[in-house]
Amino acid sequence: MTKRIIVGVTGASGSVLALETVRQLVRGGAETHLVTSKGARMTIAHELGPDGLAQLVSLANHTHSHQDLAAPIASGSFRTDGMIVVPCSMRTLAAMAHGLGDNLVTRAADVVLKE
Ligand SMILES: Cc1cc2nc3c(=O)[nH]c(=O)nc-3n(C[C@H](O)[C@H](O)[C@H](O)COP(=O)(O)O)c2cc1C
Repeated sequence: MTKRIIVGVTGASGSVLALETVRQLVRGGAETHLVTSKGARMTIAHELGPDGLAQLVSLANHTHSHQDLAAPIASGSFRTDGMIVVPCSMRTLAAMAHGLGDNLVTRAADVVLKE
């Protein structure tokens, strides 16, 4: 059965890991739901260049805006097989640990943890 995996990308060093994670998930047949934080946009541009974000988006099956708290992955009724946050900034780590749900990365993480 196809695995449905959320990939959250945040503003820590290591954007190339996000690219490779999505590439390998898609290669393995997973349905990927990508969400990049505001901070991620900066680190991706620094580390992968101006086309980095477009490369990442082109690999993923679905992309959601970090602001879209009404996206399917913000709800527990949208079943998934889990979430990977890569790379994970200290800000996002703290927000997930405290259940802040202040953007779609942290909200989706709350949902996956709760489910
Ligand atoms: C080039 C660059 C590299 C960064 N590297 C890190 C890092 O390795 N770890 C980290 O926690 N924050 C790092 N930051 C800071 C975060 O991007 C910043 O705290 C941001 O607000 C995180 O927001 P987010 O968690 O919503 O992505 C970096 C910022 C820039 C511009």
